[in-house]
Amino acid sequence: MKKILDIISAEVMSAFEKAGYEAGYGKVNLSNRPDLCEYQCNGALALAKQYKKAPIMIANDIAAILAESKILSSVEAVAPGFLNLKVSAEFLADYLNEMAVSEKFGMETENPKTIMVDYGGPNVAKPLHVGHLRSAVIGESIKRICRYAGHNVIGDIHLGDWGLQMGLIIHELSLRKPELPYYDETFTGEYPKEAPFTISELEEIYPTASGKSKVDEAYKEKAMEATYKLQTGVRGYRALWDHIINVSVTDLKRNYDNLNVEFDLWKGESDVQDLIPGMVDYMKKGGYAYISNGALVVDVKEETDTKEVPPCMILKSDGASLYNTTDLATIMERMEKYHPDKMIYLTDKRQELYFEQVFRCARKTKLVDENTELKHIGFGTVNGKDGKPFKTRDGGVMRLEYLIKEIQDEMFKKIMDGHATSEEEAHKTAKIVGMSAIKYGDLSNQASKDYIFDIDRFTSFEGDTGPYILYTIVRIKSILSRFTEAGGDVNVCKIKATTGESEKALMLEITKFNAMIQSAYEEVAPHKICAYIYDLANAFNRFYHETKILTEEDAEKKQSYIALLKLSQGVLETSIDLLGFEAPERM
Ligand code: ARG
Repeated sequence: MKKILDIISAEVMSAFEKAGYEAGYGKVNLSNRPDLCEYQCNGALALAKQYKKAPIMIANDIAAILAESKILSSVEAVAPGFLNLKVSAEFLADYLNEMAVSEKFGMETENPKTIMVDYGGPNVAKPLHVGHLRSAVIGESIKRICRYAGHNVIGDIHLGDWGLQMGLIIHELSLRKPELPYYDETFTGEYPKEAPFTISELEEIYPTASGKSKVDEAYKEKAMEATYKLQTGVRGYRALWDHIINVSVTDLKRNYDNLNVEFDLWKGESDVQDLIPGMVDYMKKGGYAYISNGALVVDVKEETDTKEVPPCMILKSDGASLYNTTDLATIMERMEKYHPDKMIYLTDKRQELYFEQVFRCARKTKLVDENTELKHIGFGTVNGKDGKPFKTRDGGVMRLEYLIKEIQDEMFKKIMDGHATSEEEAHKTAKIVGMSAIKYGDLSNQASKDYIFDIDRFTSFEGDTGPYILYTIVRIKSILSRFTEAGGDVNVCKIKATTGESEKALMLEITKFNAMIQSAYEEVAPHKICAYIYDLANAFNRFYHETKILTEEDAEKKQSYIALLKLSQGVLETSIDLLGFEAPERM
């Protein structure tokens, strides 16, 4: 289905052509003065110079031709040469009825691409904290938007599962439980199936070990040695590592499930270890990598750089691999296995320079196809009301689980204050609505910006919030079900041309859906969906307050309202699904 702006543009362009001007000047935009008109064309102003004619005369010519238009109900030429346009009620109703029966509301999709989204990125053995929220929430939404746009999308969690943190845990555990068979290098039997720790123990072991290593040099040496032994494949260490991963991943899955976030691949830094020697060799042979101060590096600076871009380090001077090395080897693996057209990475924006280096290195060394796009989306920080990174009340790092719980508790209170039928239902609803509060609160900000995690604001049923959007959807659902209960059939209802002002405004909002999704996709920008559904919800609620829907006596009119509600619901629910949350039946 064509976008509405394209249809209107085509109409105006053909008028420009008929009047003897270049068609291109007839391009139409959304009006920035909705009080005066719905759409506008400024082509006459641009043309005036070229044709040495007053712009208003050109605009008048065009308006005269467009007076015959079936699509436009009003065309005004206004000084100094604007064309103010309004669409006809019939055309608008037809357009919406077609949207209602088209797949994806008539959104056109391009050729499917393979897109990999690298998001989540947690490090194992550490609990998820508030900093992991954005990568998960934004990544999930981007994945869904790309899929909706018709692409084949593979989401990869890319676990941090290979660094010093593993050695730290292994070493700390050796002090606490030296009797475990994993540390006995002469042991040849089978290792226990059961992990020698629970997730809560693991979560305590890591920070303790990390703390010790910072003040005790010998301790750190030992942890590094353990890391080295793990990386060179010492059997007992590998077996312990497996336990750490299993316990940790089980817990991570539970946490991501709670957030409605799903990954297709649970790969990690460790998965590409076997590829590293070959890759390093290739980089050396190709003349890309050289030794500098003992380390193996690839130069990635470019002449046009305005800031210093240091070389990309491939191996440390002790031969150990780094974060860069695994990311490059992962790029190589992804190219071989999936041939992606695009790889999108989501991390904190402090990793911007890092990804610039890695991407340049991958291009220079031809690990990626020329046509494969590499994109890093760096997001801002989640702050508390004091403008500093969000903390617990006593100043600690906020665990994601607790943050979610706080929101749900607040939501529960609000729902109980309303008209909940039972505590049980209120808890269920609080979970669903709480999710919208968190995700909308995050996604409604441009990703690169920091934002303030404001529980009061996020959980409010009014304003630019998730709960407000859900409240609107629930309102629509309830009207539709009352209509059905009274014997009405929603599916036979069609939208009719209207003279109602707020009704038309709502219709015009709905028509923007496909262009909006396309730009959210192209600009990888979920916040555009939030901005859109906020406008749409406002337009709906204005219409709702001004209109008696179920008590309307004119049957045709009532059916038209119902069809419009149904379409509003469809567009809103699709949009929130792309943001990663859903609406309850009641709230
Ligand atoms: N584990 C990393 C961190 O905690 C994030 C991983 C992001 N993805 C990647 N391919 N580097 O910072």
